[in-house]
Amino acid sequence: MKRFLVLLALLPLTACAAPRPDGTQRQTAQPWTGSVDIFETQGREQELRLPTVFRALNIKRDKQVADIGAGGGWLSVRLARAVGPTGVVYAEEILPKYTQYIETRARREGLSNIKTILGTTSDPKLPANGLDAVVILNAYHEFDQPRGMLAKIKTAMKPGARLGIIERDTDEQRLEARQAYAQTGEILRRVNEKDDQNPLTDDHTLALDIVKREGEKVGFRFLGSRELGADKYLAIFRK
Ligand SMILES: C[S@@+](CC[C@H](N)C(=O)[O-])C[C@H]1O[C@@H](n2cnc3c(N)ncnc32)[C@H](O)[C@@H]1O
Repeated sequence: MKRFLVLLALLPLTACAAPRPDGTQRQTAQPWTGSVDIFETQGREQELRLPTVFRALNIKRDKQVADIGAGGGWLSVRLARAVGPTGVVYAEEILPKYTQYIETRARREGLSNIKTILGTTSDPKLPANGLDAVVILNAYHEFDQPRGMLAKIKTAMKPGARLGIIERDTDEQRLEARQAYAQTGEILRRVNEKDDQNPLTDDHTLALDIVKREGEKVGFRFLGSRELGADKYLAIFRK
C-alpha cells in the first residue's frame, strides 16, 4: 500500500508527452521569429557581465568560437572583437533572415572574422573538432531537440573546450527541478508544466538544474555556474 502511494505521488512528475527524436520530453519555448531589435537593449552588456562570461569560457584573441542561436548577432559582434582578426566566430541560426542580417551587420561593422551558418533544429552544422568555445545565449530554451543539439555541438569542440549556456530562471524553478531529480533520478518536466501533450510553451525561462542535467547526459562535465544580472545565469561545461 505504502509503495502504491509513493508511485502515485511520483506520477505527475513522470507522466509526460511522447519523447522527441533526441529523447527530450520537457516542453520547449516557441522559437523567436520577430524583430532582432529587442535584443539590442542598453545595458545588456553589463547585465550579462560579458567580461565574466568570456573569462569563464576562456574566450580571448585567436580563439575559434560559436554563437548558437545567434539571432541578430548582438553577441557575435562582441565575440568577434574579443577573438580579433586572427580568431573566428561562427554565428549559427536556423532562420536565413537572421544569418543574412548578421552578414550585413558584420560588413557594416568591419568584422571579417564572422562566418554565418544556417543550421537546422537537430544539427547546427558546425565544422568538426575545431571550436575552443561555444556560447548559447537566450536560445537553449527554444531548442526543439536540446540534447541532440548539444551532442552535435560537442563533436564540433576541441577536447577541453568550454560551452556556456545563458538562460533565466527563479529559485522556485531550481527547487522544483531538484526535487524532481531527487525523486525520480530524471528531470523530464519544466516547472508548472502541464501534462497536455503540448511540446511548446510561451515561457522563456529554464531552471539551471535542467540545463546541468541535459549537458551531463550528453557527456559534458559541468564546471559550475555564475549568477549574472537580473534572473540570468551562465552554466559552464567542459568537453
Ligand atoms: C530569443 S532569440 C536570442 C537571439 C540571440 N542569441 C540574443 O540573445 O541576442 C533565440 C534565437 O534562437 C534561435 N533558435 C531557436 N531554436 C534553435 C535551434 N534549434 N538551433 C539554433 N537556433 C535556434 C531562434 O531562431 C532565435 O533567433
